Amino acid sequence: MGLALSLIDEDASAAGFAGLTTAATMMAFVHRRYGRPDGIRGMDVAGRVEAVGRSVQGLEPGDAVFGRSSTGTLAEYACAPADNFAPKPANLTVEQAAAIPISALTALQALRDIAKVLPGQTVLVTGASGGVGTFAVQIAKALGAEVTGVCSTRRGNVDLVRSLGADHVIDYTRTDFTRTGQRYEVILDNVEAQSLSAARRALTPTGTLIPNNGKGGRWVDPLGRIVKARLLSLFTRQTLRPFLSRENRDDLLALKELIEAGKVLPVIDRTYPLSQAAVALRYVGEGHTQGKIVVIVSATGHQ
Ligand SMILES: NC(=O)c1ccc[n+]([C@@H]2O[C@H](COP(=O)([O-])OP(=O)(O)OC[C@H]3O[C@@H](n4cnc5c(N)ncnc54)[C@H](OP(=O)(O)O)[C@@H]3O)[C@@H](O)[C@H]2O)c1
Repeated sequence: MGLALSLIDEDASAAGFAGLTTAATMMAFVHRRYGRPDGIRGMDVAGRVEAVGRSVQGLEPGDAVFGRSSTGTLAEYACAPADNFAPKPANLTVEQAAAIPISALTALQALRDIAKVLPGQTVLVTGASGGVGTFAVQIAKALGAEVTGVCSTRRGNVDLVRSLGADHVIDYTRTDFTRTGQRYEVILDNVEAQSLSAARRALTPTGTLIPNNGKGGRWVDPLGRIVKARLLSLFTRQTLRPFLSRENRDDLLALKELIEAGKVLPVIDRTYPLSQAAVALRYVGEGHTQGKIVVIVSATGHQ
């Protein structure tokens, strides 16, 4: 398979670069909420650099990279500012590397930067078998936390989450984590199946809750819920912090280090050829992905 990626910068955009795509993954967040009906979908990408703009430094045609493009990656070619990319982890295939960027960046930034997880702290991750959750469990363990994953018994998810390093697993079809009496110092809530006030019950008095689904509650829309979380934060010692992950070369490099140290690996549920990208998107939209979905573009572009 000859995979490639074109990278351009602003002064090179007129050069009509064409790079051969890559493997691209999709993220439920983007497609369910911010999908561009007329545009090219997909934001994660990995492959080989086809061309770079004149002012790009540190990347050359032929380099294997992974990263993110906001102009779409489910296509034969992708382009983005060079800072959106980092060298592909040496121990991953291109397809595996395409499964990393946004989900892993989200998990890293949530746990390391927002929650500032310390060794020995208790961390609960909902949606632990999904795209963000599978990375979050591994990253929380790498940060030294005692990790509880919340998932179902569907398709061996409990075993999967344990194999990723979770110390405890809660089956959400039998147990509501907000009603066990157990309290956690950090909750990364990728599902938001419970209200903010219910989730806070499972948080220590000075704990951090990251609502990471953007879902609206019964009375408030997603924005309202974010505002509510921020306002509540003013009146409690608990920290409630919804956030948006950012592309960031340094954080891609941090992930590369964790991956090459064997502390984090992607879980890939299914792969699809580019010609079946719509099928892949429908599958992601069902909300039961185990890890990530990867779309592969062949050497000839189409399959
Ligand atoms: N902040 C950001 O910048 C950012 C970036 C990326 C994603 N996100 C958000 O992160 C969330 C997770 O994204 P994702 O890509 O990980 O989604 P996903 O891959 O679709 O994950 C869904 C997972 O959630 C599990 N699940 C469903 N209901 C559950 C429940 N009640 N309790 C626990 N687990 C449950 C599913 O397991 P079963 O099959 O067992 O039901 C599935 O494994 C999304 O809401 C997305 O919008 C935010």
